[in-house]
Amino acid sequence: MITVRVPLGQRSYDVLVGHGARRELAGLLPSTAKRAAIVTQQAIPLDIDVGLPTEVFTIGDGEAHKSLATIEALCRGFARFGLTRNDVVIGVGGGMVTDVAGFAAASWHRGVAVVHVSTTLVGMVDAAIGGKTGVNLAAVDGIGGKNLVGAFWQPAGVVCDLDALATLPPREVRCGRGEMAKYHFLTGDDLLAMDEAERIARCVEIKADFVSSDERESGRRALLNYGHTLAHALEIATDYSLAHGEAVAIGLIYAATLAHQLGRIDQVRVDQHYEVVGGHYELDTALPAGVDRRQLIDLMGRDKKALGGGLTFVLDGANGVEVVTDVSPDAAGDALDAMLLK
Ligand SMILES: NC(=O)c1ccc[n+]([C@@H]2O[C@H](COP(=O)([O-])OP(=O)(O)OC[C@H]3O[C@@H](n4cnc5c(N)ncnc54)[C@H](O)[C@@H]3O)[C@@H](O)[C@H]2O)c1
Repeated sequence: MITVRVPLGQRSYDVLVGHGARRELAGLLPSTAKRAAIVTQQAIPLDIDVGLPTEVFTIGDGEAHKSLATIEALCRGFARFGLTRNDVVIGVGGGMVTDVAGFAAASWHRGVAVVHVSTTLVGMVDAAIGGKTGVNLAAVDGIGGKNLVGAFWQPAGVVCDLDALATLPPREVRCGRGEMAKYHFLTGDDLLAMDEAERIARCVEIKADFVSSDERESGRRALLNYGHTLAHALEIATDYSLAHGEAVAIGLIYAATLAHQLGRIDQVRVDQHYEVVGGHYELDTALPAGVDRRQLIDLMGRDKKALGGGLTFVLDGANGVEVVTDVSPDAAGDALDAMLLK
Protein backbone atom coordinates (compact mmCIF):
# COMPACT_ATOMS: atom_id res chain seq x y z
CA MET A 1 0.00 0.00 0.00
CA ILE A 2 1.32 3.44 -0.91
CA THR A 3 0.08 6.46 1.07
CA VAL A 4 0.27 9.91 -0.52
CA ARG A 5 -0.44 12.92 1.66
CA VAL A 6 -2.28 15.91 0.20
CA PRO A 7 -0.89 18.75 2.34
CA LEU A 8 -3.54 21.40 2.88
CA GLY A 9 -3.10 22.53 6.48
CA GLN A 10 -6.14 21.54 8.52
CA ARG A 11 -7.73 20.06 5.41
CA SER A 12 -4.79 17.68 4.71
CA TYR A 13 -5.66 14.08 3.91
CA ASP A 14 -4.22 10.74 2.83
CA VAL A 15 -4.73 8.94 -0.45
CA LEU A 16 -4.24 5.17 -0.18
CA VAL A 17 -3.17 3.40 -3.38
CA GLY A 18 -2.97 -0.37 -3.76
CA HIS A 19 -4.79 -3.64 -4.36
CA GLY A 20 -7.40 -4.15 -1.64
CA ALA A 21 -6.99 -0.55 -0.39
CA ARG A 22 -10.75 -0.38 0.25
CA ARG A 23 -10.21 -2.58 3.30
CA GLU A 24 -8.39 0.38 4.94
CA LEU A 25 -11.33 2.70 4.32
CA ALA A 26 -12.70 2.63 7.87
CA GLY A 27 -9.46 4.23 9.11
CA LEU A 28 -10.09 7.32 6.96
CA LEU A 29 -13.57 8.08 8.32
CA PRO A 30 -14.07 10.84 10.89
CA SER A 31 -14.28 9.43 14.41
CA THR A 32 -17.59 11.27 14.91
CA ALA A 33 -19.38 9.32 12.15
CA LYS A 34 -22.22 7.09 13.35
CA ARG A 35 -23.68 6.50 9.86
CA ALA A 36 -22.34 6.36 6.33
CA ALA A 37 -24.24 7.31 3.19
CA ILE A 38 -22.67 5.49 0.25
CA VAL A 39 -23.19 7.18 -3.13
CA THR A 40 -22.47 4.92 -6.09
CA GLN A 41 -23.71 3.63 -9.46
CA GLN A 42 -25.27 0.33 -10.49
CA ALA A 43 -22.27 -0.84 -12.52
CA ILE A 44 -19.65 -0.22 -9.84
CA PRO A 45 -18.38 -3.60 -8.69
CA LEU A 46 -16.81 -2.73 -5.31
CA ASP A 47 -18.53 -3.79 -2.11
CA ILE A 48 -17.79 -1.59 0.87
CA ASP A 49 -18.04 -2.41 4.57
CA VAL A 50 -17.03 0.23 7.12
CA GLY A 51 -18.64 -1.29 10.19
CA LEU A 52 -21.24 1.49 10.51
CA PRO A 53 -24.95 1.55 9.68
CA THR A 54 -24.96 2.42 5.96
CA GLU A 55 -27.45 3.19 3.27
CA VAL A 56 -26.53 2.93 -0.41
CA PHE A 57 -27.74 5.67 -2.75
CA THR A 58 -27.48 4.68 -6.40
CA ILE A 59 -27.28 7.52 -8.89
CA GLY A 60 -27.70 7.37 -12.68
CA ASP A 61 -24.88 6.83 -15.14
CA GLY A 62 -23.72 9.52 -17.58
CA GLU A 63 -23.33 13.29 -17.58
CA ALA A 64 -27.10 13.91 -17.84
CA HIS A 65 -27.38 12.58 -14.28
CA LYS A 66 -24.64 14.86 -13.03
CA SER A 67 -27.33 17.36 -12.20
CA LEU A 68 -28.97 19.44 -9.52
CA ALA A 69 -31.89 16.98 -9.65
CA THR A 70 -29.52 14.22 -8.53
CA ILE A 71 -28.23 16.42 -5.69
CA GLU A 72 -31.81 17.07 -4.57
CA ALA A 73 -32.66 13.36 -4.66
CA LEU A 74 -29.53 12.57 -2.63
CA CYS A 75 -30.29 15.23 -0.03
CA ARG A 76 -33.83 13.88 0.36
CA GLY A 77 -32.32 10.43 0.84
CA PHE A 78 -29.84 11.76 3.43
CA ALA A 79 -32.76 13.37 5.29
CA ARG A 80 -34.73 10.09 5.34
CA PHE A 81 -31.62 8.23 6.52
CA GLY A 82 -31.05 10.79 9.31
CA LEU A 83 -27.54 11.73 8.18
CA THR A 84 -26.13 14.39 10.52
CA ARG A 85 -23.24 16.80 10.06
CA ASN A 86 -21.07 14.46 12.17
CA ASP A 87 -21.63 11.51 9.82
CA VAL A 88 -19.95 10.75 6.51
CA VAL A 89 -20.72 10.47 2.82
CA ILE A 90 -18.68 7.90 0.88
CA GLY A 91 -18.46 8.32 -2.91
CA VAL A 92 -17.70 4.97 -4.58
CA GLY A 93 -17.14 5.32 -8.30
CA GLY A 94 -15.47 7.32 -11.04
CA GLY A 95 -15.19 11.07 -11.39
CA MET A 96 -18.87 11.51 -11.95
CA VAL A 97 -19.78 9.84 -8.67
CA THR A 98 -17.09 11.57 -6.63
CA ASP A 99 -17.98 15.00 -8.10
CA VAL A 100 -21.66 14.45 -7.23
CA ALA A 101 -21.07 12.83 -3.82
CA GLY A 102 -18.60 15.59 -2.97
CA PHE A 103 -21.03 18.36 -3.89
CA ALA A 104 -23.90 16.68 -2.03
CA ALA A 105 -21.61 16.40 1.02
CA ALA A 106 -20.50 20.03 0.68
CA SER A 107 -24.14 21.14 0.65
CA TRP A 108 -25.81 18.79 3.13
CA HIS A 109 -26.13 20.59 6.49
CA ARG A 110 -23.65 23.10 5.00
CA GLY A 111 -20.96 20.47 4.88
CA VAL A 112 -20.53 16.89 6.04
CA ALA A 113 -17.30 14.89 5.66
CA VAL A 114 -16.80 12.97 2.42
CA VAL A 115 -14.40 10.12 1.66
CA HIS A 116 -13.89 8.88 -1.89
CA VAL A 117 -13.31 5.34 -3.11
CA SER A 118 -12.19 5.94 -6.65
CA THR A 119 -12.89 3.16 -9.17
CA THR A 120 -11.70 4.59 -12.51
CA LEU A 121 -8.27 5.60 -13.75
CA VAL A 122 -9.47 9.19 -14.33
CA GLY A 123 -10.82 9.24 -10.79
CA MET A 124 -7.64 7.90 -9.22
CA VAL A 125 -5.17 10.13 -11.05
CA ASP A 126 -7.33 13.23 -11.15
CA ALA A 127 -11.01 13.63 -10.20
CA ALA A 128 -11.02 12.22 -6.66
CA ILE A 129 -8.06 14.37 -5.60
CA GLY A 130 -8.19 18.10 -4.99
CA GLY A 131 -11.65 18.92 -3.72
CA LYS A 132 -13.36 20.20 -6.86
CA THR A 133 -16.94 19.00 -6.70
CA GLY A 134 -19.99 19.89 -8.74
CA VAL A 135 -22.66 19.16 -11.30
CA ASN A 136 -23.62 20.29 -14.77
CA LEU A 137 -26.26 22.93 -15.48
CA ALA A 138 -28.63 21.52 -18.10
CA ALA A 139 -29.04 23.92 -21.01
CA VAL A 140 -32.20 26.05 -21.02
CA ASP A 141 -32.52 28.50 -23.93
CA GLY A 142 -28.98 27.57 -24.89
CA ILE A 143 -27.56 28.54 -21.50
CA GLY A 144 -25.95 25.91 -19.34
CA GLY A 145 -22.74 23.93 -19.19
CA LYS A 146 -20.51 21.34 -17.60
CA ASN A 147 -19.47 21.61 -13.95
CA LEU A 148 -20.97 25.09 -13.63
CA VAL A 149 -22.44 24.56 -10.15
CA GLY A 150 -20.16 23.28 -7.44
CA ALA A 151 -17.94 23.86 -4.46
CA PHE A 152 -14.40 23.29 -3.30
CA TRP A 153 -14.85 20.59 -0.69
CA GLN A 154 -11.79 18.53 0.20
CA PRO A 155 -12.36 14.87 1.07
CA ALA A 156 -11.25 13.54 4.45
CA GLY A 157 -9.45 10.74 2.61
CA VAL A 158 -9.30 8.91 -0.71
CA VAL A 159 -8.91 5.22 -1.52
CA CYS A 160 -7.60 4.10 -4.92
CA ASP A 161 -8.21 0.36 -4.87
CA LEU A 162 -6.43 -1.04 -7.92
CA ASP A 163 -8.72 -4.11 -7.85
CA ALA A 164 -11.40 -1.85 -9.38
CA LEU A 165 -9.37 -1.37 -12.56
CA ALA A 166 -9.81 -5.04 -13.55
CA THR A 167 -13.36 -4.38 -14.74
CA LEU A 168 -12.80 -0.95 -16.26
CA PRO A 169 -13.75 -0.80 -19.98
CA PRO A 170 -10.78 -0.10 -22.34
CA ARG A 171 -12.18 3.28 -23.33
CA GLU A 172 -12.18 4.43 -19.70
CA VAL A 173 -8.56 3.27 -19.42
CA ARG A 174 -7.72 5.38 -22.48
CA CYS A 175 -9.31 8.41 -20.81
CA GLY A 176 -7.06 7.99 -17.78
CA ARG A 177 -4.04 7.71 -20.03
CA GLY A 178 -4.92 11.08 -21.61
CA GLU A 179 -4.61 12.76 -18.20
CA MET A 180 -1.40 10.82 -17.48
CA ALA A 181 0.12 12.05 -20.75
CA LYS A 182 -0.65 15.56 -19.50
CA TYR A 183 1.30 14.86 -16.28
CA HIS A 184 4.19 13.65 -18.42
CA PHE A 185 4.51 17.13 -19.94
CA LEU A 186 3.98 18.95 -16.64
CA THR A 187 6.77 17.03 -14.89
CA GLY A 188 8.84 15.17 -17.51
CA ASP A 189 8.26 11.93 -15.57
CA ASP A 190 8.31 8.67 -17.53
CA LEU A 191 5.19 7.34 -15.83
CA LEU A 192 4.90 4.31 -18.09
CA ALA A 193 8.26 3.04 -16.84
CA MET A 194 6.77 2.62 -13.33
CA ASP A 195 4.65 -0.27 -12.11
CA GLU A 196 0.91 0.34 -11.84
CA ALA A 197 0.77 1.24 -8.15
CA GLU A 198 3.81 3.51 -8.34
CA ARG A 199 2.45 5.17 -11.46
CA ILE A 200 -0.93 5.95 -9.94
CA ALA A 201 0.64 7.08 -6.68
CA ARG A 202 3.01 9.37 -8.60
CA CYS A 203 0.05 10.90 -10.50
CA VAL A 204 -1.70 11.49 -7.16
CA GLU A 205 1.47 13.12 -5.86
CA ILE A 206 1.70 15.41 -8.91
CA LYS A 207 -1.94 16.45 -8.59
CA ALA A 208 -1.53 16.92 -4.83
CA ASP A 209 1.46 19.17 -5.41
CA PHE A 210 -0.50 21.48 -7.73
CA VAL A 211 -3.54 21.47 -5.44
CA SER A 212 -1.63 22.17 -2.26
CA SER A 213 0.19 25.12 -3.80
CA ASP A 214 -3.02 26.67 -5.17
CA GLU A 215 -6.12 25.07 -3.68
CA ARG A 216 -8.68 27.35 -5.39
CA GLU A 217 -7.03 27.64 -8.78
CA SER A 218 -6.02 31.26 -8.67
CA GLY A 219 -2.65 30.52 -10.29
CA ARG A 220 -0.51 27.40 -10.62
CA ARG A 221 -3.35 24.86 -10.44
CA ALA A 222 -4.57 26.22 -13.80
CA LEU A 223 -1.57 24.46 -15.40
CA LEU A 224 -3.48 21.21 -14.86
CA ASN A 225 -5.62 22.46 -17.75
CA TYR A 226 -2.77 21.75 -20.19
CA GLY A 227 -4.45 20.40 -23.34
CA HIS A 228 -7.91 21.19 -21.98
CA THR A 229 -8.89 24.34 -23.91
CA LEU A 230 -9.27 22.51 -27.20
CA ALA A 231 -10.39 19.36 -25.36
CA HIS A 232 -13.46 21.08 -23.88
CA ALA A 233 -14.31 22.55 -27.30
CA LEU A 234 -13.95 19.14 -28.97
CA GLU A 235 -16.17 17.45 -26.40
CA ILE A 236 -18.94 19.96 -27.09
CA ALA A 237 -18.42 20.02 -30.88
CA THR A 238 -18.64 16.21 -31.06
CA ASP A 239 -21.62 16.12 -28.70
CA TYR A 240 -19.45 14.21 -26.21
CA SER A 241 -18.91 11.29 -28.60
CA LEU A 242 -15.25 12.04 -27.94
CA ALA A 243 -14.61 11.24 -24.27
CA HIS A 244 -12.77 13.75 -22.08
CA GLY A 245 -9.42 11.95 -21.88
CA GLU A 246 -9.46 11.24 -25.63
CA ALA A 247 -10.10 14.94 -26.25
CA VAL A 248 -7.27 15.89 -23.85
CA ALA A 249 -4.84 13.75 -25.88
CA ILE A 250 -5.69 15.70 -29.05
CA GLY A 251 -5.68 18.92 -27.04
CA LEU A 252 -2.08 18.27 -25.93
CA ILE A 253 -0.99 17.94 -29.56
CA TYR A 254 -2.89 21.10 -30.42
CA ALA A 255 -1.30 23.03 -27.54
CA ALA A 256 2.15 21.99 -28.79
CA THR A 257 1.27 22.94 -32.38
CA LEU A 258 0.00 26.33 -31.24
CA ALA A 259 3.06 26.91 -29.04
CA HIS A 260 5.20 26.19 -32.10
CA GLN A 261 3.17 28.62 -34.25
CA LEU A 262 3.72 31.28 -31.59
CA GLY A 263 7.47 30.63 -31.59
CA ARG A 264 7.47 29.26 -28.03
CA ILE A 265 8.84 25.77 -28.81
CA ASP A 266 10.67 24.13 -31.71
CA GLN A 267 9.49 21.33 -34.01
CA VAL A 268 11.50 18.78 -32.01
CA ARG A 269 9.34 19.50 -28.96
CA VAL A 270 6.17 19.22 -31.05
CA ASP A 271 7.40 15.85 -32.33
CA GLN A 272 7.97 14.78 -28.71
CA HIS A 273 4.30 15.48 -28.02
CA TYR A 274 3.32 13.20 -30.91
CA GLU A 275 5.73 10.50 -29.69
CA VAL A 276 4.50 10.60 -26.09
CA VAL A 277 0.75 10.90 -26.75
CA GLY A 278 0.49 8.77 -29.89
CA GLY A 279 3.48 6.46 -29.40
CA HIS A 280 3.88 5.79 -25.68
CA TYR A 281 0.30 6.36 -24.53
CA GLU A 282 -1.19 4.95 -27.77
CA LEU A 283 -3.84 7.64 -28.01
CA ASP A 284 -5.31 9.22 -31.15
CA THR A 285 -3.61 12.50 -31.99
CA ALA A 286 -5.63 13.66 -35.02
CA LEU A 287 -8.60 16.02 -35.00
CA PRO A 288 -11.80 14.03 -35.61
CA ALA A 289 -13.10 14.22 -39.18
CA GLY A 290 -15.68 16.87 -39.92
CA VAL A 291 -15.03 19.21 -36.99
CA ASP A 292 -15.82 22.83 -37.79
CA ARG A 293 -12.81 25.14 -37.44
CA ARG A 294 -14.91 28.26 -36.76
CA GLN A 295 -17.00 26.49 -34.11
CA LEU A 296 -13.89 25.23 -32.30
CA ILE A 297 -12.41 28.75 -32.17
CA ASP A 298 -15.72 30.15 -30.84
CA LEU A 299 -15.96 27.42 -28.22
CA MET A 300 -12.36 27.93 -27.12
CA GLY A 301 -13.13 31.63 -26.67
CA ARG A 302 -15.99 30.71 -24.36
CA ASP A 303 -14.05 28.20 -22.28
CA LYS A 304 -14.88 28.90 -18.65
CA LYS A 305 -11.20 28.71 -17.80
CA ALA A 306 -10.54 31.69 -20.09
CA LEU A 307 -9.08 34.68 -18.25
CA GLY A 308 -9.63 38.16 -19.66
CA GLY A 309 -10.43 39.13 -23.25
CA GLY A 310 -8.61 36.97 -25.87
CA LEU A 311 -8.19 33.22 -26.06
CA THR A 312 -6.38 31.70 -23.11
CA PHE A 313 -4.24 28.58 -23.30
CA VAL A 314 -1.77 26.68 -21.19
CA LEU A 315 1.28 26.43 -23.44
CA ASP A 316 4.76 24.99 -23.34
CA GLY A 317 7.73 27.32 -23.75
CA ALA A 318 11.26 28.12 -22.65
CA ASN A 319 10.09 28.45 -19.02
CA GLY A 320 8.04 25.25 -19.15
CA VAL A 321 4.27 25.10 -19.29
CA GLU A 322 2.52 28.38 -18.42
CA VAL A 323 -0.76 30.25 -18.89
CA VAL A 324 -0.75 32.42 -22.03
CA THR A 325 -3.53 34.97 -22.45
CA ASP A 326 -4.70 37.03 -25.41
CA VAL A 327 -3.87 34.53 -28.14
CA SER A 328 -5.44 35.78 -31.38
CA PRO A 329 -8.20 33.71 -33.02
CA ASP A 330 -6.08 33.75 -36.22
CA ALA A 331 -3.16 32.03 -34.47
CA ALA A 332 -5.57 29.53 -32.89
CA GLY A 333 -7.05 28.83 -36.35
CA ASP A 334 -3.62 28.46 -37.98
CA ALA A 335 -2.70 25.80 -35.43
CA LEU A 336 -5.91 23.90 -36.22
CA ASP A 337 -5.05 24.11 -39.93
CA ALA A 338 -1.54 22.82 -39.26
CA MET A 339 -3.00 19.79 -37.47
CA LEU A 340 -5.53 19.17 -40.24
CA LEU A 341 -2.72 19.21 -42.83
CA LYS A 342 -0.56 16.74 -40.87
N1 LIG B 1 -13.24 17.06 -9.78
C1 LIG B 1 -12.24 17.01 -10.62
O1 LIG B 1 -11.15 17.55 -10.37
C2 LIG B 1 -12.41 16.27 -11.92
C3 LIG B 1 -11.29 15.98 -12.73
C4 LIG B 1 -11.47 15.25 -13.89
C5 LIG B 1 -12.74 14.81 -14.24
N2 LIG B 1 -13.81 15.12 -13.44
C6 LIG B 1 -15.17 14.66 -13.78
O2 LIG B 1 -15.15 13.24 -13.76
C7 LIG B 1 -16.12 12.74 -14.65
C8 LIG B 1 -15.47 11.67 -15.49
O3 LIG B 1 -15.01 10.67 -14.60
P1 LIG B 1 -14.68 9.22 -15.12
O4 LIG B 1 -13.83 9.32 -16.35
O5 LIG B 1 -14.17 8.46 -13.97
O6 LIG B 1 -16.08 8.68 -15.66
P2 LIG B 1 -17.39 8.15 -14.91
O7 LIG B 1 -17.35 8.42 -13.48
O8 LIG B 1 -18.54 8.67 -15.69
O9 LIG B 1 -17.27 6.57 -15.13
C9 LIG B 1 -17.25 6.05 -16.44
C10 LIG B 1 -18.06 4.76 -16.52
O10 LIG B 1 -17.35 3.70 -15.89
C11 LIG B 1 -18.20 3.03 -14.94
N3 LIG B 1 -17.31 2.52 -13.91
C12 LIG B 1 -16.73 3.19 -12.91
N4 LIG B 1 -15.90 2.40 -12.24
C13 LIG B 1 -15.93 1.20 -12.84
C14 LIG B 1 -15.24 -0.02 -12.63
N5 LIG B 1 -14.32 -0.14 -11.68
N6 LIG B 1 -15.53 -1.07 -13.45
C15 LIG B 1 -16.43 -0.92 -14.46
N7 LIG B 1 -17.10 0.20 -14.72
C16 LIG B 1 -16.83 1.26 -13.91
C17 LIG B 1 -19.17 4.09 -14.50
O11 LIG B 1 -20.34 3.51 -13.98
C18 LIG B 1 -19.41 4.83 -15.82
O12 LIG B 1 -20.34 4.13 -16.61
C19 LIG B 1 -16.62 13.91 -15.45
O13 LIG B 1 -17.90 14.26 -14.98
C20 LIG B 1 -15.61 15.02 -15.16
O14 LIG B 1 -16.20 16.31 -15.21
C21 LIG B 1 -13.66 15.82 -12.29
